[in-house]
Amino acid sequence: MDDARAVMTGIGSCLPPDVVSNDELSRSLDTSHEWIHSRTGISRRHVVKPGVSTGDLATAAGAAALESAGRRACDLVLLATTTPDQPCPATAPQVAARLGCAGVPAFDLSAVCSGFVYGLETASALIRSGLYGSVLLIGAETYSTIVDPTDRNTAVLFGDGAGAVVLERGEAGTPGAVLHTRLGSDGTEAGLIAVPGGGSRAPRPDPHGPPSYFRMEGKEVYARAVSTMTRSAREVAEEAGWRPQDVDAFVGHQANARILRAVARRLGLPAERVVCHMGEVGNTAAASIPLALGWAASRGTLTAGDRVLLTAFGGGLTWGSAAMTWPGALRPVTAVEPAPPAV
Ligand code: ACO
Repeated sequence: MDDARAVMTGIGSCLPPDVVSNDELSRSLDTSHEWIHSRTGISRRHVVKPGVSTGDLATAAGAAALESAGRRACDLVLLATTTPDQPCPATAPQVAARLGCAGVPAFDLSAVCSGFVYGLETASALIRSGLYGSVLLIGAETYSTIVDPTDRNTAVLFGDGAGAVVLERGEAGTPGAVLHTRLGSDGTEAGLIAVPGGGSRAPRPDPHGPPSYFRMEGKEVYARAVSTMTRSAREVAEEAGWRPQDVDAFVGHQANARILRAVARRLGLPAERVVCHMGEVGNTAAASIPLALGWAASRGTLTAGDRVLLTAFGGGLTWGSAAMTWPGALRPVTAVEPAPPAV
């Protein structure tokens, strides 16, 4: 049991084909490409067409990850998302059914931008316990459905997309092994990142009032993100027996390039080891780390056994980090956005 680990054997992604540039946003909002790019590193983002859901993107990315791993099914499907297809039921069972995995356990996991790392620890623990041999872990979001398009503070930051990985049982020495994970939360600061209406506390926002959109206190979140991600990443690297400066690739939650550079500086990591993918896709919340991993895989710059440090921070507040090695012969698969299912 001690040497048993979850090992990443497949990776897939799905980005909707429609792309919105900073210049396009600047036509309807009091903003500019210069402001958005210099403050965040974001140049453009993908958005779904009306009617295309998180579950649609998750299904496409999940199928791509299964194909990448050379598998037709998995023993468990986990979907990390803050934008499920509906409040009830969970989206994961429908995704599992559409993937041909009907019958296996499937559930949603909600930890906002830390959702993928929360899922990684959950999947790893379930695989290490021997309960499941393989897990399909998907991070998928459609923030375009919850962001206020008239709010320049948030509308410029987010994008839609899905990334997925297949994890299978292996050993700590196998390239692709998830060696250590560490999670945390602080619910006293839940108000910093929230969609206030639509849950049990405020079930029906006033139908004549403004809709309940996603809100974020960006400046407060920025400061906490830098200090918490630095601490969390350092802790997990130490648990793995690594000096942070020896890490080959640093894959942080893709909210803001300035945040990732600040964390890397504090860790003593050279800037060129920081994976920055938000320029093309924006902040895709729970999808951001698997999308960044897929992008890194497609560039072919990492080799089997390289040390990869993941870290995330988001609403809840939640955070988490993982130390893993890069898999051998990982073939990333990119899916096209599927049509919504016929009803
Ligand atoms: N265009 C032009 N000006 C803008 C825009 C915009 N799109 N948005 C805000 N501004 C203005 C503000 O109104 C403010 O003006 P003022 O000084 O006159 O009041 C000014 O720009 C500066 O605003 P700040 O909030 O100080 O800008 P900052 O440099 O902090 O950047 C940002 C804002 C990008 C949101 C940053 O704070 C950030 O990245 N925060 C953290 C995000 C994060 O890590 N999220 C992770 C979790 S997300 C999740 O869990 C779903």
